[in-house]
Amino acid sequence: MAVLIEAGFPVVVLDNFSNSDPSVISRLERITGKTIRCVRADLRDRVALIATLKAHGVTDVIHLAGLKAVGESVSQPIQYYGCNVQGTISLLEAMQETGISRLVFSSSATVYGDPHYLPLDEAHPTSATNPYGRSKLHIEEMLRDVARSAPDWHIVCLRYFNPVGAHPSALIGEEPSGIPNNLMPFVAQVAAGIRPELQIFGGDYPTPDGTGVRDYIHVMDLAEGHLAALRYLVDHPGWEAINLGTGVGYSVLEMVSAFEAASGRAIPCNRVSRRAGDIASCYANPERAQRLLNWHAKRGLEDMCRSTWAWQQERRSLS
Ligand code: UD1
Repeated sequence: MAVLIEAGFPVVVLDNFSNSDPSVISRLERITGKTIRCVRADLRDRVALIATLKAHGVTDVIHLAGLKAVGESVSQPIQYYGCNVQGTISLLEAMQETGISRLVFSSSATVYGDPHYLPLDEAHPTSATNPYGRSKLHIEEMLRDVARSAPDWHIVCLRYFNPVGAHPSALIGEEPSGIPNNLMPFVAQVAAGIRPELQIFGGDYPTPDGTGVRDYIHVMDLAEGHLAALRYLVDHPGWEAINLGTGVGYSVLEMVSAFEAASGRAIPCNRVSRRAGDIASCYANPERAQRLLNWHAKRGLEDMCRSTWAWQQERRSLS
């Protein structure tokens, strides 16, 4: 959002704060020096949604409201389909009602399932192995049908690879509640002494060092990808799926070493068995984003680790 505001877009936030803290808004105001318009509402509250879209004269929507924990989605599928799929239907109804037709949707590389080939391009077949992934896939397909139904829809699905890092101010970043599911927040908490060790899930994958390989992308690059998508949408009707990744894969061990270097802390590790549902390697072919959006990731692994560590140290003093 800071990137959008700095680019001159007047932004209004709609959030139910179920997985975030309202104090983020005042921190965003500190970063941008602007007052942020914010409405506390659930995406499924169509009345609130329509009122917000009308009141603020919204012209474009970036839809990032979704649940994303794979394990939780297996035990709480109704919650996941309700929030992710029903939430999107509610948003589309509200957009239709108010005549808004430009939408950027946060999708995920999870829609590629187990890769048949690498790097993953957008033509790779899609599939899902859990309710979270299936909810993203359902939404993408729903959006494609919507875009086919009338020529005025402009929709881009951004397929994120593995977002990491934090804003350079160290005022905003990822704040997992409870035990982090994902690698980088967990590593940061081990470096900070909050958790005793990192469990490395599997050491026998067919990768150079036996640990899982992923395409980690800096959140600031991701944010700039959204800005590029918004600009692209203006004169491109229809539906597009576009990868947001770097094209480079790093193993768990490479991530740990990079984080040790950035933080100056040792990260104790313990190799355990594979995590159910994990794949060996996943990284993007980012050419389509370059071609259509004139966007590519600029920030490297060192910046990803340094900003994560700065945020990890700063966040405890923030309220
Ligand atoms: C996970 C989800 C993916 C989702 C993404 C959201 C699974 C199987 N996949 O991706 O669907 O879109 O988060 O950001 O949950 N690792 C460890 N120890 C840990 C944590 C992770 O060794 O404590 C390893 C994993 O085995 C993997 C790599 O680190 O090789 C990255 O894991 P993670 O950050 O959870 O991301 P994904 O599994 O790629």
